[in-house]
Amino acid sequence: AEGTEDSYDYLFKIVLIGDSGVGKSNLLSRYTKNEFHLGSKATIGVELAQNTIEVEDKNIRAQIWDTAGQERYRAITSAYYRGALGAILVYDIAKVTSFQNLDKWIAELKQHTESNLSVIIVGNKSDLKHLRIVETKRGRQYAADQGTLFMETSALDSTNVTEAFEDLVMHIY
Ligand code: GTP
Ligand code: MG
Repeated sequence: AEGTEDSYDYLFKIVLIGDSGVGKSNLLSRYTKNEFHLGSKATIGVELAQNTIEVEDKNIRAQIWDTAGQERYRAITSAYYRGALGAILVYDIAKVTSFQNLDKWIAELKQHTESNLSVIIVGNKSDLKHLRIVETKRGRQYAADQGTLFMETSALDSTNVTEAFEDLVMHIY
């Protein structure tokens, strides 16, 4: 709400991960600034953005860390994950390799975080209907097998973006 930007009751660190180009940075800019950039540049290092959500009269500050999917641009991994309470693991529904690489990202998560971390798997670019390769039920089944939340989103047309971030925040809370 207006005027409450600087006060909060809880601070939740959330990390965004997934292959380069799946739309992590655009999901974040859509959620925190309602902005989308066509043909945006690959992230280098780490970028932070935040949103405050009111839940049961409490203000929860979601502090979201966005890093490069490309190995050579990634910041020191252990520092990136330190203190994280949640993770958003993103793939592109039109790019099967980004879905297959979820195993790799989950292994990295397990290596660097506590087992009680809350995770949501997000199939982004749901607007690309004619280019879809990963069916919704396949994504949902994978997430169920991993014991994580699941959502399909579009940073381009805004579908489910707020829902994905806030489902995760509610799961942490
Ligand atoms: P790295 O920073 O390299 O890890 O990539 P990223 O995961 O942050 O991807 P980014 O947000 O930069 O988006 C990559 C490309 O996909 C850009 O051209 C975006 O415009 C496009 N894009 C992102 N989200 C969507 C979406 O929901 N739909 C469509 N059609 N394009 C998207
Ligand atoms: Mg990025």
